[in-house]
Amino acid sequence: MSVNITVLPGDGIGQEIVREALKVLDVLNRGFDLKAEWEEAAIGGDGYDRAGDPYPEETRKLAHASDAVLLGAVGGAKWEGLAKPLRPEAGLLGIRADLGLFANYRPAKVYDQLLEASTLKPEVVQGVDILVVRELVSGVYFGQPRGIVQEGGQRRGINTMSYTESEVERIARTAFAAARLRSNRVCSVDKANVLEVSELWRETVIRIKETEFPDVELTHMYVDNAAMQLIRNPKQFDVMVTGNLFGDILSDEASMLTGSIGMLPSASIGDKYAMYEPIHGSAPDIAGQNKANPLATILSVAMMLRYSLDQAGLADKVEAAVEAVLDDGLRTPDLAGGSKVVSCSGMGDAVCEKLQVMAG
Ligand code: NAD
Ligand code: IPM
Ligand code: MN
Repeated sequence: MSVNITVLPGDGIGQEIVREALKVLDVLNRGFDLKAEWEEAAIGGDGYDRAGDPYPEETRKLAHASDAVLLGAVGGAKWEGLAKPLRPEAGLLGIRADLGLFANYRPAKVYDQLLEASTLKPEVVQGVDILVVRELVSGVYFGQPRGIVQEGGQRRGINTMSYTESEVERIARTAFAAARLRSNRVCSVDKANVLEVSELWRETVIRIKETEFPDVELTHMYVDNAAMQLIRNPKQFDVMVTGNLFGDILSDEASMLTGSIGMLPSASIGDKYAMYEPIHGSAPDIAGQNKANPLATILSVAMMLRYSLDQAGLADKVEAAVEAVLDDGLRTPDLAGGSKVVSCSGMGDAVCEKLQVMAG
């Protein structure tokens, strides 16, 4: 049976990195009988340019009819002056909300081959294997009221950080279930010393642990301390579960443990749909130069194979191919060290060659 993927390259380096990920899917089709079919559609600034909407109706229909969605990145200076609902970021938040993708898995795994690429000491990062579970469709990103209002001769900007108990319950369950497949430890990150929303978050996470996951170890940390501890001693963490904004920030921070934000894939999963997206953005500073690291996107394809397409064996192969090119010393410019600097397409080709060899 064939599987259908909606492919959304988006803006900036999104176009370049997704091209490499599709080469990988192509090799899997030819060499391993994957039977993946895909259709490209527009999102973000690309959606606005082509359809006047950062999440066009046509894209929405396609995504709803697919087994999985693969996204590159959105955003760029060109669209920054648009009204908020028309900006690229509104398209990304729109598809996440529309597909109900409440759980965003962001694994930060340090490869031994990249120890020297991290800005931290090798002994601090060696062996780091953290899973950030970020709540993705609520919190301050979506809370009401929001806006900019006129008030006594000046303007006031307002956003609301809010979580319902059921929103916390489902992300807590996601994190505890993920921990059971790893080292069985969850650290819930909040700001319960100041925020009521965090107080409810913490109480709810504790209740879910006690009633449904008594076997999983649960600790709590304030987000400011967590940001510091991630750099001081990242190996203390297994699964970190947190809200939308804190997860956005902490996962970018965690990515630097691995050497580059260009290494971090993610899976955004809901009850019915799933989307796979590198955690980084459209990198306008290097877009169009064939310099971007495509590995986060290729590793996102591996997550798609594992979680949506029931192809864990092929996911293992893609991950092994990535390790093999790193073993060979290949590095895009964002990764320090290694013996051979390659382009975005050069890195994609190298991963494909490794897969071809495996296919025999
Ligand atoms: P960014 O992640 O795009 O870039 C931050 C830095 O990391 C840049 O120096 C960039 O060159 C580098 N970088 C990122 N990905 C890389 C890769 N694969 N290979 C090599 N280097 C890489 O973040 P930003 O500069 O804050 O944002 C740029 C635009 O992207 C904005 O419009 C923002 O809204 C958008 N954005 C989109 C997403 C997404 O689509 N998921 C995520 C973050 C930011
Ligand atoms: C990410 C990005 C997005 C977010 C932006 C572009 C809306 O930073 O995917 O991490 O904040 O979620
Ligand atoms: Mn982000």
